[in-house]
Amino acid sequence: MSTPPSVLFVDHTAALGGAELYLLDYVRHREGPHQVLLFEEGPFADRLASADVPTRCLSGASAVLSFSRASGLMAALQAIPGGMRLIYQVAQAARACDVVFANSQKAFLIAAVAGTLTRTPVVWNLHDLLTADHFSSFNTRLVVAMANAFATAVVVNSEATRQSFVDAGGRQSLTRVVYNGLDAQVFEEARPANVREAQGIGDAPLVGIFSRLAPWKGQHVLLEALDTLPAVHALLVGEALFGDEVTYAQRLRDEVGQRGLSDRVHFLGFRNDIPALVNAVDVVVHTSVAPEPFGRVIAEGLLAQKPVIATRAGGAQEIIREGKTGWLVPPGDADALARAIRHVLSDPEEARRRARAGRREARERFSLGTMACALEATIHDAARTGG
Ligand code: UDP
Ligand code: GLC
Repeated sequence: MSTPPSVLFVDHTAALGGAELYLLDYVRHREGPHQVLLFEEGPFADRLASADVPTRCLSGASAVLSFSRASGLMAALQAIPGGMRLIYQVAQAARACDVVFANSQKAFLIAAVAGTLTRTPVVWNLHDLLTADHFSSFNTRLVVAMANAFATAVVVNSEATRQSFVDAGGRQSLTRVVYNGLDAQVFEEARPANVREAQGIGDAPLVGIFSRLAPWKGQHVLLEALDTLPAVHALLVGEALFGDEVTYAQRLRDEVGQRGLSDRVHFLGFRNDIPALVNAVDVVVHTSVAPEPFGRVIAEGLLAQKPVIATRAGGAQEIIREGKTGWLVPPGDADALARAIRHVLSDPEEARRRARAGRREARERFSLGTMACALEATIHDAARTGG
Protein backbone atom coordinates (compact mmCIF):
# COMPACT_ATOMS: atom_id res chain seq x y z
CA MET A 1 0.00 0.00 0.00
CA SER A 2 1.08 3.62 -0.51
CA THR A 3 1.93 5.91 2.42
CA PRO A 4 -0.85 5.80 5.01
CA PRO A 5 -3.09 8.90 4.92
CA SER A 6 -2.79 11.23 7.88
CA VAL A 7 -5.87 10.89 10.04
CA LEU A 8 -7.52 13.04 12.67
CA PHE A 9 -9.44 10.71 15.00
CA VAL A 10 -12.14 12.51 16.97
CA ASP A 11 -14.15 11.22 19.94
CA HIS A 12 -16.34 13.26 22.27
CA THR A 13 -15.66 11.26 25.41
CA ALA A 14 -12.58 10.35 27.41
CA ALA A 15 -14.42 7.67 29.40
CA LEU A 16 -13.41 4.09 28.61
CA GLY A 17 -16.42 2.64 26.81
CA GLY A 18 -16.21 -0.17 24.26
CA ALA A 19 -15.98 2.28 21.33
CA GLU A 20 -12.99 3.98 22.93
CA LEU A 21 -11.22 0.67 23.70
CA TYR A 22 -11.79 -0.28 20.05
CA LEU A 23 -10.18 2.94 18.81
CA LEU A 24 -7.31 2.50 21.27
CA ASP A 25 -6.62 -0.98 19.88
CA TYR A 26 -6.63 0.37 16.35
CA VAL A 27 -4.50 3.51 16.73
CA ARG A 28 -1.91 1.99 19.04
CA HIS A 29 -1.02 -0.45 16.23
CA ARG A 30 -1.53 1.94 13.31
CA GLU A 31 1.44 3.07 11.33
CA GLY A 32 1.44 6.51 9.95
CA PRO A 33 0.60 10.00 10.89
CA HIS A 34 -2.41 10.56 13.08
CA GLN A 35 -3.66 12.45 16.07
CA VAL A 36 -6.56 11.80 18.45
CA LEU A 37 -8.70 14.75 19.50
CA LEU A 38 -11.01 14.36 22.51
CA PHE A 39 -13.57 16.85 23.82
CA GLU A 40 -12.47 16.31 27.44
CA GLU A 41 -9.69 14.88 29.58
CA GLY A 42 -9.98 11.48 31.23
CA PRO A 43 -8.86 7.84 31.33
CA PHE A 44 -9.08 7.30 27.56
CA ALA A 45 -6.65 10.18 27.04
CA ASP A 46 -4.32 8.68 29.64
CA ARG A 47 -4.38 5.26 27.95
CA LEU A 48 -3.68 6.83 24.55
CA ALA A 49 -0.78 8.78 25.99
CA SER A 50 0.68 5.63 27.62
CA ALA A 51 0.53 3.96 24.20
CA ASP A 52 2.42 6.95 22.73
CA VAL A 53 -0.49 7.99 20.53
CA PRO A 54 -0.43 11.75 19.87
CA THR A 55 -3.49 13.02 21.71
CA ARG A 56 -5.02 16.42 22.40
CA CYS A 57 -7.90 17.14 24.77
CA LEU A 58 -10.05 20.17 24.06
CA SER A 59 -11.74 22.09 26.85
CA GLY A 60 -14.91 24.12 27.28
CA ALA A 61 -17.21 21.48 25.77
CA SER A 62 -19.23 20.66 28.88
CA ALA A 63 -22.57 21.94 27.51
CA VAL A 64 -22.13 19.79 24.40
CA LEU A 65 -21.03 16.75 26.41
CA SER A 66 -23.93 16.93 28.84
CA PHE A 67 -26.50 17.30 26.06
CA SER A 68 -28.65 14.16 25.89
CA ARG A 69 -32.02 12.91 24.63
CA ALA A 70 -33.59 14.18 27.85
CA SER A 71 -32.29 17.73 27.34
CA GLY A 72 -34.73 20.43 26.35
CA LEU A 73 -34.57 23.42 24.03
CA MET A 74 -32.73 25.54 26.61
CA ALA A 75 -29.91 23.00 26.88
CA ALA A 76 -29.74 22.84 23.07
CA LEU A 77 -29.34 26.62 22.89
CA GLN A 78 -26.70 26.57 25.62
CA ALA A 79 -24.72 23.96 23.69
CA ILE A 80 -24.46 26.13 20.57
CA PRO A 81 -21.48 28.35 21.53
CA GLY A 82 -19.50 25.32 22.76
CA GLY A 83 -20.40 23.47 19.57
CA MET A 84 -19.15 26.35 17.41
CA ARG A 85 -15.88 26.45 19.33
CA LEU A 86 -15.42 22.72 18.83
CA ILE A 87 -16.12 23.02 15.10
CA TYR A 88 -13.46 25.72 14.87
CA GLN A 89 -10.90 23.64 16.78
CA VAL A 90 -11.61 20.44 14.84
CA ALA A 91 -11.42 22.37 11.56
CA GLN A 92 -8.03 23.82 12.54
CA ALA A 93 -6.69 20.32 13.22
CA ALA A 94 -8.39 18.83 10.13
CA ARG A 95 -6.56 21.21 7.78
CA ALA A 96 -3.34 19.27 8.30
CA CYS A 97 -4.99 15.85 7.69
CA ASP A 98 -6.19 13.74 4.76
CA VAL A 99 -9.16 12.23 6.58
CA VAL A 100 -11.21 12.91 9.72
CA PHE A 101 -12.42 9.74 11.47
CA ALA A 102 -15.25 10.42 13.94
CA ASN A 103 -15.69 7.67 16.52
CA SER A 104 -18.91 8.82 18.18
CA GLN A 105 -22.12 10.60 17.23
CA LYS A 106 -21.32 13.91 18.89
CA ALA A 107 -17.86 13.80 17.34
CA PHE A 108 -19.40 13.12 13.95
CA LEU A 109 -21.83 16.05 14.11
CA ILE A 110 -18.95 18.40 14.87
CA ALA A 111 -16.56 16.73 12.39
CA ALA A 112 -19.12 16.77 9.57
CA VAL A 113 -19.29 20.57 9.68
CA ALA A 114 -15.54 20.99 10.24
CA GLY A 115 -14.78 18.60 7.36
CA THR A 116 -17.11 20.49 5.03
CA LEU A 117 -15.44 23.80 5.89
CA THR A 118 -11.96 22.39 5.26
CA ARG A 119 -12.93 20.01 2.43
CA THR A 120 -11.57 17.05 4.38
CA PRO A 121 -13.34 13.70 3.89
CA VAL A 122 -15.11 12.46 7.02
CA VAL A 123 -15.54 8.80 7.96
CA TRP A 124 -18.01 8.11 10.76
CA ASN A 125 -17.72 4.98 12.88
CA LEU A 126 -21.21 4.28 14.16
CA HIS A 127 -21.14 2.12 17.31
CA ASP A 128 -24.81 2.48 18.30
CA LEU A 129 -28.10 1.06 17.15
CA LEU A 130 -30.17 3.99 15.96
CA THR A 131 -33.34 2.78 17.63
CA ALA A 132 -35.83 4.26 20.08
CA ASP A 133 -34.22 2.23 22.89
CA HIS A 134 -31.19 4.48 22.66
CA PHE A 135 -32.01 7.73 20.84
CA SER A 136 -34.77 10.24 20.36
CA SER A 137 -36.20 10.36 16.85
CA PHE A 138 -34.89 13.95 16.47
CA ASN A 139 -31.36 12.83 17.27
CA THR A 140 -31.57 9.92 14.83
CA ARG A 141 -33.05 12.03 12.01
CA LEU A 142 -30.37 14.69 12.49
CA VAL A 143 -27.39 12.35 12.54
CA VAL A 144 -28.64 10.27 9.60
CA ALA A 145 -29.31 13.38 7.48
CA MET A 146 -25.80 14.64 8.30
CA ALA A 147 -24.31 11.26 7.39
CA ASN A 148 -26.16 11.10 4.07
CA ALA A 149 -25.04 14.62 3.21
CA PHE A 150 -21.49 14.78 4.56
CA ALA A 151 -19.98 11.36 5.38
CA THR A 152 -17.67 9.72 2.87
CA ALA A 153 -18.25 6.34 4.57
CA VAL A 154 -20.05 5.02 7.64
CA VAL A 155 -18.28 2.15 9.39
CA VAL A 156 -20.76 0.08 11.41
CA ASN A 157 -19.84 -2.44 14.11
CA SER A 158 -22.37 -5.12 13.05
CA GLU A 159 -25.02 -5.99 10.48
CA ALA A 160 -27.57 -5.06 13.14
CA THR A 161 -26.12 -1.56 13.41
CA ARG A 162 -26.04 -1.29 9.61
CA GLN A 163 -29.72 -2.27 9.45
CA SER A 164 -30.67 0.33 12.06
CA PHE A 165 -28.86 3.01 10.05
CA VAL A 166 -30.60 1.98 6.82
CA ASP A 167 -34.00 1.67 8.55
CA ALA A 168 -33.53 5.23 9.82
CA GLY A 169 -33.05 6.45 6.24
CA GLY A 170 -29.25 6.12 5.98
CA ARG A 171 -27.74 5.30 2.59
CA GLN A 172 -26.73 1.64 2.53
CA SER A 173 -23.95 2.36 -0.01
CA LEU A 174 -22.09 4.43 2.63
CA THR A 175 -21.84 1.53 5.10
CA ARG A 176 -18.99 -0.93 5.73
CA VAL A 177 -19.38 -3.54 8.46
CA VAL A 178 -16.20 -3.82 10.52
CA TYR A 179 -16.33 -6.04 13.58
CA ASN A 180 -14.26 -5.09 16.62
CA GLY A 181 -10.84 -6.72 16.56
CA LEU A 182 -9.46 -7.99 19.85
CA ASP A 183 -6.08 -9.15 21.03
CA ALA A 184 -6.70 -12.92 21.24
CA GLN A 185 -3.33 -13.65 22.79
CA VAL A 186 -4.00 -11.46 25.80
CA PHE A 187 -7.23 -13.34 26.56
CA GLU A 188 -5.68 -16.74 25.98
CA GLU A 189 -2.60 -16.14 28.06
CA ALA A 190 -3.81 -14.05 31.00
CA ARG A 191 -3.46 -15.86 34.31
CA PRO A 192 -6.75 -15.98 36.21
CA ALA A 193 -7.07 -13.11 38.70
CA ASN A 194 -7.05 -14.16 42.30
CA VAL A 195 -10.67 -13.21 42.99
CA ARG A 196 -11.85 -16.46 44.52
CA GLU A 197 -9.64 -16.07 47.56
CA ALA A 198 -9.87 -12.29 47.70
CA GLN A 199 -13.69 -12.35 47.66
CA GLY A 200 -14.19 -15.51 49.74
CA ILE A 201 -15.75 -17.42 46.85
CA GLY A 202 -13.88 -20.69 47.38
CA ASP A 203 -14.84 -23.39 44.85
CA ALA A 204 -18.39 -22.14 44.26
CA PRO A 205 -19.56 -21.80 40.63
CA LEU A 206 -18.75 -18.28 39.46
CA VAL A 207 -20.40 -16.28 36.68
CA GLY A 208 -19.16 -12.87 35.53
CA ILE A 209 -20.61 -9.81 33.82
CA PHE A 210 -18.04 -7.39 32.42
CA SER A 211 -20.18 -4.43 31.37
CA ARG A 212 -20.60 -0.91 32.64
CA LEU A 213 -23.47 -0.61 35.09
CA ALA A 214 -26.30 0.81 32.98
CA PRO A 215 -30.03 0.04 32.84
CA TRP A 216 -29.86 -1.34 29.29
CA LYS A 217 -26.94 -3.62 30.17
CA GLY A 218 -29.43 -5.48 32.39
CA GLN A 219 -27.34 -6.56 35.38
CA HIS A 220 -30.61 -6.62 37.37
CA VAL A 221 -31.72 -9.66 35.33
CA LEU A 222 -28.77 -11.64 36.66
CA LEU A 223 -29.62 -10.62 40.24
CA GLU A 224 -33.13 -11.98 39.70
CA ALA A 225 -31.76 -15.20 38.18
CA LEU A 226 -29.48 -15.70 41.21
CA ASP A 227 -32.58 -16.13 43.42
CA THR A 228 -33.02 -19.58 41.90
CA LEU A 229 -29.31 -20.49 41.77
CA PRO A 230 -28.45 -20.66 45.48
CA ALA A 231 -24.89 -21.95 45.09
CA VAL A 232 -23.78 -19.52 42.37
CA HIS A 233 -21.60 -16.43 42.95
CA ALA A 234 -21.40 -13.50 40.52
CA LEU A 235 -18.73 -10.93 39.69
CA LEU A 236 -20.13 -7.60 38.51
CA VAL A 237 -17.19 -5.91 36.85
CA GLY A 238 -17.68 -2.37 35.58
CA GLU A 239 -18.98 0.94 36.87
CA ALA A 240 -21.46 3.59 35.79
CA LEU A 241 -19.73 5.55 33.03
CA PHE A 242 -22.24 8.06 31.72
CA GLY A 243 -24.85 10.47 33.19
CA ASP A 244 -27.85 8.76 34.76
CA GLU A 245 -26.12 5.37 35.03
CA VAL A 246 -25.04 6.30 38.57
CA THR A 247 -28.63 5.96 39.81
CA TYR A 248 -28.88 2.48 38.30
CA ALA A 249 -25.57 1.42 39.88
CA GLN A 250 -26.92 2.44 43.30
CA ARG A 251 -30.19 0.63 42.62
CA LEU A 252 -28.26 -2.57 41.84
CA ARG A 253 -26.29 -2.31 45.07
CA ASP A 254 -29.52 -1.79 47.04
CA GLU A 255 -31.16 -4.72 45.30
CA VAL A 256 -28.32 -7.04 46.24
CA GLY A 257 -29.00 -6.21 49.90
CA GLN A 258 -32.78 -6.59 49.54
CA ARG A 259 -32.47 -9.97 47.83
CA GLY A 260 -30.01 -11.21 50.47
CA LEU A 261 -27.27 -11.68 47.87
CA SER A 262 -24.49 -9.70 49.57
CA ASP A 263 -22.38 -12.82 50.17
CA ARG A 264 -22.66 -14.00 46.59
CA VAL A 265 -22.52 -10.86 44.46
CA HIS A 266 -19.15 -9.14 44.20
CA PHE A 267 -18.95 -5.63 42.77
CA LEU A 268 -15.42 -5.01 41.52
CA GLY A 269 -15.90 -1.55 39.98
CA PHE A 270 -14.16 -0.53 36.76
CA ARG A 271 -11.05 -2.67 36.14
CA ASN A 272 -8.19 -2.60 33.68
CA ASP A 273 -7.38 -6.33 34.03
CA ILE A 274 -10.41 -7.77 32.21
CA PRO A 275 -8.53 -10.69 30.56
CA ALA A 276 -7.37 -11.96 33.98
CA LEU A 277 -10.87 -11.55 35.43
CA VAL A 278 -12.60 -13.27 32.50
CA ASN A 279 -10.20 -16.16 32.94
CA ALA A 280 -11.18 -16.44 36.61
CA VAL A 281 -14.90 -17.18 36.05
CA ASP A 282 -16.71 -20.35 34.98
CA VAL A 283 -19.30 -18.64 32.78
CA VAL A 284 -19.44 -15.25 31.04
CA VAL A 285 -22.90 -13.69 31.04
CA HIS A 286 -24.18 -10.83 28.89
CA THR A 287 -27.61 -9.53 29.91
CA SER A 288 -28.40 -6.46 27.78
CA VAL A 289 -32.15 -5.88 27.76
CA ALA A 290 -31.98 -3.62 24.68
CA PRO A 291 -30.30 -4.99 21.54
CA GLU A 292 -26.50 -4.79 21.81
CA PRO A 293 -24.90 -3.07 18.80
CA PHE A 294 -21.89 -5.43 18.91
CA GLY A 295 -20.78 -6.50 22.41
CA ARG A 296 -17.04 -6.76 22.91
CA VAL A 297 -17.56 -8.59 26.19
CA ILE A 298 -19.20 -11.48 24.35
CA ALA A 299 -16.26 -11.85 21.95
CA GLU A 300 -13.82 -11.51 24.86
CA GLY A 301 -15.53 -14.40 26.70
CA LEU A 302 -15.18 -16.56 23.60
CA LEU A 303 -11.50 -15.67 23.18
CA ALA A 304 -10.86 -16.72 26.79
CA GLN A 305 -12.54 -20.03 25.88
CA LYS A 306 -15.35 -19.59 28.38
CA PRO A 307 -18.93 -20.72 27.97
CA VAL A 308 -20.81 -17.53 27.06
CA ILE A 309 -24.52 -16.80 27.57
CA ALA A 310 -25.78 -13.69 25.79
CA THR A 311 -29.14 -12.13 24.98
CA ARG A 312 -30.73 -12.95 21.63
CA ALA A 313 -30.83 -9.51 19.99
CA GLY A 314 -28.72 -7.17 17.87
CA GLY A 315 -25.03 -7.87 17.28
CA ALA A 316 -24.86 -10.62 19.92
CA GLN A 317 -26.56 -12.91 17.41
CA GLU A 318 -23.75 -12.28 14.93
CA ILE A 319 -21.08 -13.19 17.49
CA ILE A 320 -22.64 -16.35 18.93
CA ARG A 321 -24.00 -19.22 16.85
CA GLU A 322 -26.73 -20.64 19.01
CA GLY A 323 -26.14 -24.23 20.07
CA LYS A 324 -22.64 -24.19 18.53
CA THR A 325 -20.49 -21.51 20.14
CA GLY A 326 -22.56 -20.39 23.12
CA TRP A 327 -26.05 -19.85 24.50
CA LEU A 328 -28.60 -17.17 23.60
CA VAL A 329 -31.53 -16.29 25.89
CA PRO A 330 -34.37 -13.80 25.43
CA PRO A 331 -33.51 -10.31 26.79
CA GLY A 332 -34.95 -9.60 30.23
CA ASP A 333 -35.90 -13.23 30.93
CA ALA A 334 -34.38 -14.16 34.32
CA ASP A 335 -35.83 -17.71 34.24
CA ALA A 336 -34.29 -18.45 30.86
CA LEU A 337 -30.97 -17.04 32.05
CA ALA A 338 -31.06 -19.19 35.19
CA ARG A 339 -31.87 -22.28 33.08
CA ALA A 340 -28.94 -21.55 30.73
CA ILE A 341 -26.54 -21.08 33.66
CA ARG A 342 -27.76 -24.37 35.16
CA HIS A 343 -27.29 -26.08 31.81
CA VAL A 344 -23.71 -24.83 31.45
CA LEU A 345 -22.78 -25.85 35.00
CA SER A 346 -24.41 -29.27 34.83
CA ASP A 347 -22.99 -30.27 31.45
CA PRO A 348 -19.31 -29.31 31.54
CA GLU A 349 -18.50 -31.46 28.50
CA GLU A 350 -21.00 -29.55 26.33
CA ALA A 351 -19.79 -26.25 27.83
CA ARG A 352 -16.20 -27.08 26.89
CA ARG A 353 -17.22 -28.15 23.38
CA ARG A 354 -19.01 -24.86 22.67
CA ALA A 355 -16.27 -22.81 24.33
CA ARG A 356 -13.60 -24.44 22.15
CA ALA A 357 -15.63 -23.85 18.98
CA GLY A 358 -16.31 -20.29 20.13
CA ARG A 359 -12.66 -19.49 20.59
CA ARG A 360 -11.73 -20.94 17.18
CA GLU A 361 -14.33 -18.81 15.44
CA ALA A 362 -13.67 -15.67 17.47
CA ARG A 363 -9.95 -15.78 16.68
CA GLU A 364 -10.73 -15.68 12.99
CA ARG A 365 -13.65 -13.29 12.94
CA PHE A 366 -12.55 -10.73 15.52
CA SER A 367 -8.84 -10.38 14.88
CA LEU A 368 -6.99 -7.09 15.24
CA GLY A 369 -5.47 -7.64 11.79
CA THR A 370 -8.80 -8.03 10.00
CA MET A 371 -10.18 -4.95 11.72
CA ALA A 372 -7.10 -2.84 10.94
CA CYS A 373 -7.09 -3.86 7.25
CA ALA A 374 -10.76 -3.01 6.84
CA LEU A 375 -10.41 0.38 8.56
CA GLU A 376 -7.24 1.22 6.67
CA ALA A 377 -8.91 0.37 3.34
CA THR A 378 -11.87 2.61 4.21
CA ILE A 379 -9.54 5.46 5.16
CA HIS A 380 -7.51 5.07 1.95
CA ASP A 381 -10.70 5.11 -0.14
CA ALA A 382 -11.90 8.21 1.67
CA ALA A 383 -8.56 9.97 1.14
CA ARG A 384 -8.64 9.08 -2.56
CA THR A 385 -12.18 10.16 -3.25
CA GLY A 386 -11.74 13.42 -1.32
CA GLY A 387 -14.11 15.59 0.73
N1 UDP B 1 -14.45 -3.19 30.42
C1 UDP B 1 -13.33 -2.74 31.10
N2 UDP B 1 -13.39 -2.62 32.46
C2 UDP B 1 -14.51 -2.89 33.16
C3 UDP B 1 -15.68 -3.33 32.47
C4 UDP B 1 -15.60 -3.46 31.09
O1 UDP B 1 -12.28 -2.48 30.50
O2 UDP B 1 -14.48 -2.78 34.38
C5 UDP B 1 -14.38 -3.32 28.96
C6 UDP B 1 -14.78 -4.68 28.42
O3 UDP B 1 -13.72 -5.59 28.56
C7 UDP B 1 -15.13 -4.35 26.98
C8 UDP B 1 -15.67 -2.93 27.10
O4 UDP B 1 -15.31 -2.44 28.37
O5 UDP B 1 -13.98 -4.38 26.16
C9 UDP B 1 -17.16 -2.85 26.95
O6 UDP B 1 -17.47 -2.96 25.62
P1 UDP B 1 -18.84 -3.52 25.07
O7 UDP B 1 -18.75 -3.44 23.61
O8 UDP B 1 -19.13 -4.86 25.63
O9 UDP B 1 -19.97 -2.55 25.65
P2 UDP B 1 -20.12 -0.94 25.70
O10 UDP B 1 -19.90 -0.56 27.12
O11 UDP B 1 -19.15 -0.37 24.76
O12 UDP B 1 -21.53 -0.70 25.27
C1 GLC C 1 -20.64 0.57 21.64
C2 GLC C 1 -21.69 -0.53 21.72
C3 GLC C 1 -21.11 -1.90 21.91
C4 GLC C 1 -19.95 -2.14 20.97
C5 GLC C 1 -18.92 -1.03 21.13
C6 GLC C 1 -17.73 -1.19 20.19
O1 GLC C 1 -20.22 1.03 22.85
O2 GLC C 1 -22.62 -0.26 22.78
O3 GLC C 1 -22.10 -2.90 21.68
O4 GLC C 1 -19.36 -3.40 21.18
O5 GLC C 1 -19.52 0.20 20.85
O6 GLC C 1 -18.11 -1.16 18.83
